[in-house]
Amino acid sequence: MNGDGVNRRSIQWFPGHMAKTLRLMRQEVRGVDAVLLLLDARIPRSSLNPELEAIAAAKPHLYVLNKADLADPALTARWVRWFCGQGAGCVAISAKQKSGAAAVRRAVDEALAGLMARNAQRGMAGARVRVMVAGIPNVGKSTFINTFAGAARAAAADRPGVTRGRQWIAAGRYDLLDMPGVLWNKFDSLETASNLAFIGSIKDDILDLEELAAGLLSQMRAVYPGRLAGRYKLTEQQLALPAWELLEAIGRGRGMLMRGGEVDTARAAAMLVDEFRASRWGRITLETPPDDAAAGRAAVSGEQQPDAPAAPGGPQQADAGKDEA
Ligand code: G4P
Repeated sequence: MNGDGVNRRSIQWFPGHMAKTLRLMRQEVRGVDAVLLLLDARIPRSSLNPELEAIAAAKPHLYVLNKADLADPALTARWVRWFCGQGAGCVAISAKQKSGAAAVRRAVDEALAGLMARNAQRGMAGARVRVMVAGIPNVGKSTFINTFAGAARAAAADRPGVTRGRQWIAAGRYDLLDMPGVLWNKFDSLETASNLAFIGSIKDDILDLEELAAGLLSQMRAVYPGRLAGRYKLTEQQLALPAWELLEAIGRGRGMLMRGGEVDTARAAAMLVDEFRASRWGRITLETPPDDAAAGRAAVSGEQQPDAPAAPGGPQQADAGKDEA
Protein backbone atom coordinates (compact mmCIF):
# COMPACT_ATOMS: atom_id res chain seq x y z
CA MET A 1 0.00 0.00 0.00
CA ASN A 2 1.20 3.51 -0.62
CA GLY A 3 0.07 6.84 0.80
CA ASP A 4 -2.24 7.63 -2.09
CA GLY A 5 -5.32 7.65 0.07
CA VAL A 6 -4.06 10.31 2.42
CA ASN A 7 -6.70 12.95 2.88
CA ARG A 8 -7.53 13.04 -0.77
CA ARG A 9 -10.83 14.76 -0.10
CA SER A 10 -10.00 17.30 2.50
CA ILE A 11 -6.52 18.50 1.71
CA GLN A 12 -7.35 21.40 -0.61
CA TRP A 13 -6.89 24.41 1.59
CA PHE A 14 -6.38 27.98 0.60
CA PRO A 15 -8.05 30.50 2.87
CA GLY A 16 -8.86 33.90 1.44
CA HIS A 17 -6.25 35.68 3.53
CA MET A 18 -3.53 33.71 1.75
CA ALA A 19 -4.68 35.01 -1.64
CA LYS A 20 -4.57 38.49 -0.14
CA THR A 21 -1.06 37.93 1.20
CA LEU A 22 0.15 36.85 -2.25
CA ARG A 23 -1.23 40.04 -3.79
CA LEU A 24 0.43 42.09 -1.08
CA MET A 25 3.74 40.34 -1.58
CA ARG A 26 3.71 41.06 -5.31
CA GLN A 27 3.48 44.75 -4.47
CA GLU A 28 5.93 44.74 -1.57
CA VAL A 29 8.65 42.82 -3.35
CA ARG A 30 9.26 45.85 -5.55
CA GLY A 31 10.49 47.78 -2.55
CA VAL A 32 12.88 45.22 -1.05
CA ASP A 33 16.52 44.48 -1.83
CA ALA A 34 16.31 40.72 -1.39
CA VAL A 35 14.00 37.85 -0.49
CA LEU A 36 14.66 35.01 1.92
CA LEU A 37 12.60 31.97 1.01
CA LEU A 38 12.36 29.72 4.03
CA LEU A 39 11.91 26.01 3.32
CA ASP A 40 11.60 23.02 5.62
CA ALA A 41 14.80 20.97 5.33
CA ARG A 42 12.79 17.76 5.80
CA ILE A 43 10.76 18.43 2.64
CA PRO A 44 12.64 21.04 0.59
CA ARG A 45 10.65 20.42 -2.57
CA SER A 46 7.20 20.18 -1.04
CA SER A 47 7.74 23.28 1.10
CA LEU A 48 8.73 25.37 -1.90
CA ASN A 49 5.58 27.19 -2.94
CA PRO A 50 5.97 28.03 -6.65
CA GLU A 51 3.93 31.22 -6.18
CA LEU A 52 6.41 32.44 -3.57
CA GLU A 53 9.32 31.37 -5.75
CA ALA A 54 7.94 33.42 -8.64
CA ILE A 55 7.68 36.46 -6.36
CA ALA A 56 11.22 35.95 -5.02
CA ALA A 57 12.59 35.64 -8.56
CA ALA A 58 12.13 39.38 -9.01
CA LYS A 59 14.99 40.10 -6.57
CA PRO A 60 18.23 38.53 -5.35
CA HIS A 61 17.00 35.68 -3.23
CA LEU A 62 18.28 33.01 -0.95
CA TYR A 63 16.79 29.61 -0.16
CA VAL A 64 17.02 28.96 3.55
CA LEU A 65 16.59 25.30 4.54
CA ASN A 66 15.31 25.73 8.06
CA LYS A 67 14.88 23.07 10.76
CA ALA A 68 18.06 21.41 9.55
CA ASP A 69 18.41 20.04 13.11
CA LEU A 70 15.42 17.78 12.33
CA ALA A 71 16.57 16.71 8.85
CA ASP A 72 18.97 14.03 7.65
CA PRO A 73 22.36 15.84 7.45
CA ALA A 74 23.58 13.93 4.37
CA LEU A 75 20.44 14.77 2.44
CA THR A 76 20.50 18.38 3.60
CA ALA A 77 24.02 18.70 2.19
CA ARG A 78 22.77 17.28 -1.10
CA TRP A 79 19.86 19.68 -1.20
CA VAL A 80 22.14 22.66 -0.56
CA ARG A 81 24.37 21.49 -3.40
CA TRP A 82 21.35 21.02 -5.62
CA PHE A 83 19.96 24.52 -5.02
CA CYS A 84 23.41 26.03 -5.50
CA GLY A 85 23.74 24.00 -8.70
CA GLN A 86 20.60 25.74 -9.96
CA GLY A 87 22.41 29.04 -9.57
CA ALA A 88 20.54 29.97 -6.40
CA GLY A 89 22.05 30.84 -3.04
CA CYS A 90 21.17 28.31 -0.38
CA VAL A 91 21.98 27.88 3.27
CA ALA A 92 20.86 25.26 5.81
CA ILE A 93 20.12 26.49 9.31
CA SER A 94 18.28 25.86 12.51
CA ALA A 95 16.47 29.08 13.31
CA LYS A 96 16.29 28.05 16.94
CA GLN A 97 20.06 28.35 17.24
CA LYS A 98 21.93 31.63 17.23
CA SER A 99 24.44 30.21 14.77
CA GLY A 100 21.54 29.96 12.29
CA ALA A 101 21.15 33.73 12.24
CA ALA A 102 24.89 34.23 11.78
CA ALA A 103 24.95 31.80 8.83
CA VAL A 104 22.08 33.59 7.14
CA ARG A 105 23.58 37.01 7.78
CA ARG A 106 26.79 35.88 6.07
CA ALA A 107 24.84 34.38 3.17
CA VAL A 108 22.65 37.47 2.76
CA ASP A 109 25.73 39.69 2.77
CA GLU A 110 27.28 37.47 0.12
CA ALA A 111 24.12 37.40 -2.01
CA LEU A 112 23.88 41.17 -1.78
CA ALA A 113 27.58 41.92 -2.14
CA GLY A 114 27.01 43.73 -5.44
CA LEU A 115 24.37 46.00 -3.94
CA MET A 116 26.54 46.72 -0.91
CA ALA A 117 29.49 47.59 -3.15
CA ARG A 118 27.35 49.96 -5.21
CA ASN A 119 26.02 51.62 -2.06
CA ALA A 120 29.59 52.05 -0.79
CA GLN A 121 30.64 53.66 -4.08
CA ARG A 122 27.76 56.11 -3.80
CA GLY A 123 28.79 56.95 -0.26
CA MET A 124 25.85 55.01 1.14
CA ALA A 125 27.84 52.37 2.98
CA GLY A 126 25.80 51.28 5.95
CA ALA A 127 22.51 51.97 4.15
CA ARG A 128 19.76 49.75 5.44
CA VAL A 129 19.03 46.57 3.51
CA ARG A 130 15.40 45.58 3.14
CA VAL A 131 14.70 41.87 3.08
CA MET A 132 11.38 40.09 2.68
CA VAL A 133 11.01 36.84 4.66
CA ALA A 134 8.63 34.44 2.94
CA GLY A 135 7.55 30.83 3.38
CA ILE A 136 4.72 28.46 4.08
CA PRO A 137 2.96 28.41 7.48
CA ASN A 138 4.93 26.88 10.35
CA VAL A 139 8.25 26.85 8.48
CA GLY A 140 9.84 28.97 11.21
CA LYS A 141 9.62 32.55 9.93
CA SER A 142 8.86 34.10 13.34
CA THR A 143 11.51 32.02 15.05
CA PHE A 144 14.02 32.98 12.39
CA ILE A 145 13.23 36.69 12.65
CA ASN A 146 13.48 36.56 16.45
CA THR A 147 16.84 34.82 16.31
CA PHE A 148 18.12 37.02 13.48
CA ALA A 149 17.13 40.21 15.21
CA GLY A 150 18.02 38.97 18.70
CA ALA A 151 18.23 41.66 21.33
CA ALA A 152 18.33 44.27 18.57
CA ARG A 153 14.78 43.41 17.57
CA ALA A 154 12.54 46.42 17.20
CA ALA A 155 9.49 47.20 15.16
CA ALA A 156 10.68 49.41 12.31
CA ALA A 157 7.33 51.07 12.11
CA ASP A 158 8.08 54.72 11.72
CA ARG A 159 9.51 54.63 8.26
CA PRO A 160 7.62 56.46 5.55
CA GLY A 161 5.71 54.13 3.30
CA VAL A 162 5.15 51.51 5.97
CA THR A 163 1.65 50.25 5.49
CA ARG A 164 -0.50 48.69 8.14
CA GLY A 165 -0.90 44.91 8.09
CA ARG A 166 2.70 43.92 7.51
CA GLN A 167 5.47 44.07 9.94
CA TRP A 168 8.95 45.45 9.47
CA ILE A 169 11.54 44.46 12.03
CA ALA A 170 14.84 46.27 12.33
CA ALA A 171 17.80 43.95 12.90
CA GLY A 172 21.19 45.64 12.76
CA ARG A 173 21.48 47.12 9.32
CA TYR A 174 18.67 44.94 8.00
CA ASP A 175 14.99 45.68 7.89
CA LEU A 176 13.10 42.41 7.70
CA LEU A 177 9.61 42.30 6.25
CA ASP A 178 7.65 39.55 7.97
CA MET A 179 4.97 38.08 5.71
CA PRO A 180 2.26 35.60 6.75
CA GLY A 181 2.72 32.02 5.56
CA VAL A 182 1.15 31.03 2.26
CA LEU A 183 0.13 27.59 1.05
CA TRP A 184 -0.85 26.49 -2.44
CA ASN A 185 -3.99 27.51 -4.21
CA LYS A 186 -4.01 24.01 -5.63
CA PHE A 187 -1.41 21.40 -4.80
CA ASP A 188 0.56 20.02 -7.73
CA SER A 189 0.47 16.56 -6.27
CA LEU A 190 -0.99 14.58 -3.44
CA GLU A 191 2.54 13.85 -2.28
CA THR A 192 3.21 17.55 -1.78
CA ALA A 193 0.01 17.96 0.21
CA SER A 194 0.73 14.89 2.32
CA ASN A 195 4.28 16.00 3.09
CA LEU A 196 3.02 19.40 4.20
CA ALA A 197 0.47 17.72 6.43
CA PHE A 198 3.13 15.44 7.97
CA ILE A 199 5.23 18.37 9.12
CA GLY A 200 2.22 20.31 10.41
CA SER A 201 1.97 23.10 7.84
CA ILE A 202 -1.65 22.22 7.13
CA LYS A 203 -3.92 22.53 10.13
CA ASP A 204 -4.66 19.14 11.68
CA ASP A 205 -8.30 20.01 12.29
CA ILE A 206 -9.05 19.76 8.57
CA LEU A 207 -7.26 16.43 8.25
CA ASP A 208 -8.13 12.85 9.01
CA LEU A 209 -5.33 12.01 11.41
CA GLU A 210 -5.64 8.25 10.91
CA GLU A 211 -5.28 8.57 7.14
CA LEU A 212 -2.38 10.93 7.71
CA ALA A 213 -0.64 8.47 10.05
CA ALA A 214 -1.16 5.60 7.60
CA GLY A 215 0.38 7.70 4.81
CA LEU A 216 3.28 8.67 7.03
CA LEU A 217 3.91 5.03 7.88
CA SER A 218 3.91 4.14 4.17
CA GLN A 219 6.45 6.80 3.39
CA MET A 220 8.63 6.09 6.41
CA ARG A 221 8.62 2.40 5.64
CA ALA A 222 9.82 3.14 2.13
CA VAL A 223 12.72 5.40 3.13
CA TYR A 224 13.67 4.55 6.73
CA PRO A 225 12.28 1.06 7.46
CA GLY A 226 14.95 0.30 10.06
CA ARG A 227 14.04 3.23 12.23
CA LEU A 228 10.36 2.40 12.14
CA ALA A 229 11.03 -1.22 13.03
CA GLY A 230 13.45 -0.21 15.77
CA ARG A 231 11.25 2.39 17.41
CA TYR A 232 8.07 0.31 17.46
CA LYS A 233 9.71 -3.10 17.81
CA LEU A 234 8.19 -4.45 14.63
CA THR A 235 8.94 -7.80 13.06
CA GLU A 236 9.67 -7.98 9.35
CA GLN A 237 6.19 -9.45 8.83
CA GLN A 238 4.55 -6.56 10.67
CA LEU A 239 6.58 -4.04 8.72
CA ALA A 240 5.21 -5.53 5.49
CA LEU A 241 1.55 -5.21 6.55
CA PRO A 242 -0.82 -2.85 4.73
CA ALA A 243 -0.46 0.61 6.32
CA TRP A 244 -3.76 0.47 8.22
CA GLU A 245 -2.86 -2.88 9.75
CA LEU A 246 0.60 -1.58 10.56
CA LEU A 247 -1.04 1.32 12.40
CA GLU A 248 -3.09 -1.20 14.39
CA ALA A 249 -0.03 -3.32 15.13
CA ILE A 250 1.82 -0.30 16.46
CA GLY A 251 -1.18 0.75 18.58
CA ARG A 252 -1.48 -2.77 19.98
CA GLY A 253 2.25 -2.86 20.69
CA ARG A 254 1.86 0.33 22.71
CA GLY A 255 -1.12 -1.08 24.62
CA MET A 256 -3.54 1.43 23.08
CA LEU A 257 -6.63 -0.72 23.43
CA MET A 258 -10.26 0.21 23.87
CA ARG A 259 -12.86 -1.69 25.84
CA GLY A 260 -13.35 -5.03 24.08
CA GLY A 261 -9.70 -5.21 23.08
CA GLU A 262 -9.94 -3.24 19.84
CA VAL A 263 -7.00 -1.01 19.02
CA ASP A 264 -7.62 2.71 19.55
CA THR A 265 -6.32 3.69 16.11
CA ALA A 266 -7.16 7.37 16.61
CA ARG A 267 -4.86 7.47 19.62
CA ALA A 268 -2.16 5.49 17.83
CA ALA A 269 -2.35 7.87 14.86
CA ALA A 270 -2.05 10.95 17.07
CA MET A 271 0.92 9.39 18.86
CA LEU A 272 2.68 8.56 15.57
CA VAL A 273 2.22 12.02 14.05
CA ASP A 274 3.35 13.65 17.33
CA GLU A 275 6.42 11.46 17.56
CA PHE A 276 7.39 12.17 13.96
CA ARG A 277 7.03 15.93 14.43
CA ALA A 278 8.97 15.82 17.69
CA SER A 279 11.81 14.07 15.85
CA ARG A 280 11.55 10.95 17.98
CA TRP A 281 12.28 8.87 14.88
CA GLY A 282 15.59 10.61 14.41
CA ARG A 283 16.59 13.14 11.80
CA ILE A 284 14.52 12.48 8.72
CA THR A 285 14.27 13.93 5.22
CA LEU A 286 11.37 12.70 3.15
CA GLU A 287 12.54 14.00 -0.23
CA THR A 288 15.67 13.68 -2.31
CA PRO A 289 16.87 16.26 -4.85
CA PRO A 290 15.62 15.54 -8.39
CA ASP A 291 18.99 14.18 -9.57
CA ASP A 292 19.12 11.82 -6.64
CA ALA A 293 15.58 10.71 -7.26
CA ALA A 294 16.54 9.77 -10.81
CA ALA A 295 19.53 7.83 -9.54
CA GLY A 296 17.29 5.98 -7.11
CA ARG A 297 16.97 6.16 -3.39
CA ALA A 298 19.54 3.40 -2.90
CA ALA A 299 22.36 5.74 -3.86
CA VAL A 300 21.30 8.09 -1.09
CA SER A 301 20.92 5.36 1.48
CA GLY A 302 24.47 4.30 0.78
CA GLU A 303 25.68 7.69 1.90
CA GLN A 304 23.55 8.02 4.99
CA GLN A 305 22.75 5.47 7.67
CA PRO A 306 22.10 2.05 6.18
CA ASP A 307 18.43 1.47 6.70
CA ALA A 308 17.55 -1.98 5.60
CA PRO A 309 14.57 -3.56 7.33
CA ALA A 310 15.70 -4.22 10.85
CA ALA A 311 15.14 -7.24 12.98
CA PRO A 312 12.66 -6.79 15.80
CA GLY A 313 14.07 -4.42 18.34
CA GLY A 314 16.87 -3.64 15.90
CA PRO A 315 19.23 -0.75 16.27
CA GLN A 316 17.81 2.74 16.49
CA GLN A 317 19.40 5.81 15.09
CA ALA A 318 21.93 7.14 17.50
CA ASP A 319 20.39 10.56 17.06
CA ALA A 320 16.80 9.47 17.60
CA GLY A 321 15.07 11.87 19.91
CA LYS A 322 18.07 14.13 20.08
CA ASP A 323 16.42 17.09 18.49
CA GLU A 324 13.06 17.13 20.05
CA ALA A 325 11.32 20.39 19.31
P1 G4P B 1 6.03 30.50 11.21
O1 G4P B 1 6.26 31.87 11.77
O2 G4P B 1 6.69 30.30 9.89
O3 G4P B 1 4.59 30.09 11.18
O4 G4P B 1 6.75 29.46 12.19
P2 G4P B 1 7.22 29.62 13.70
O5 G4P B 1 8.42 30.49 13.80
O6 G4P B 1 6.04 29.97 14.54
O7 G4P B 1 7.70 28.14 14.01
C1 G4P B 1 6.81 27.03 13.95
C2 G4P B 1 7.33 25.93 14.87
O8 G4P B 1 8.60 25.47 14.36
C3 G4P B 1 7.59 26.39 16.31
O9 G4P B 1 7.35 25.26 17.14
C4 G4P B 1 9.08 26.66 16.31
O10 G4P B 1 9.66 26.57 17.58
C5 G4P B 1 9.57 25.56 15.40
N1 G4P B 1 10.87 25.86 14.76
C6 G4P B 1 11.20 26.97 14.05
N2 G4P B 1 12.46 26.88 13.58
C7 G4P B 1 12.95 25.70 14.01
C8 G4P B 1 14.21 25.01 13.84
O11 G4P B 1 15.13 25.46 13.18
N3 G4P B 1 14.31 23.78 14.44
C9 G4P B 1 13.30 23.22 15.15
N4 G4P B 1 13.51 22.03 15.70
N5 G4P B 1 12.10 23.84 15.32
C10 G4P B 1 11.94 25.05 14.76
P3 G4P B 1 6.05 25.16 18.01
O12 G4P B 1 6.05 23.81 18.60
O13 G4P B 1 4.86 25.56 17.19
O14 G4P B 1 6.24 26.27 19.08
P4 G4P B 1 7.22 26.25 20.35
O15 G4P B 1 6.92 24.99 21.07
O16 G4P B 1 8.63 26.30 19.88
O17 G4P B 1 6.80 27.47 21.10
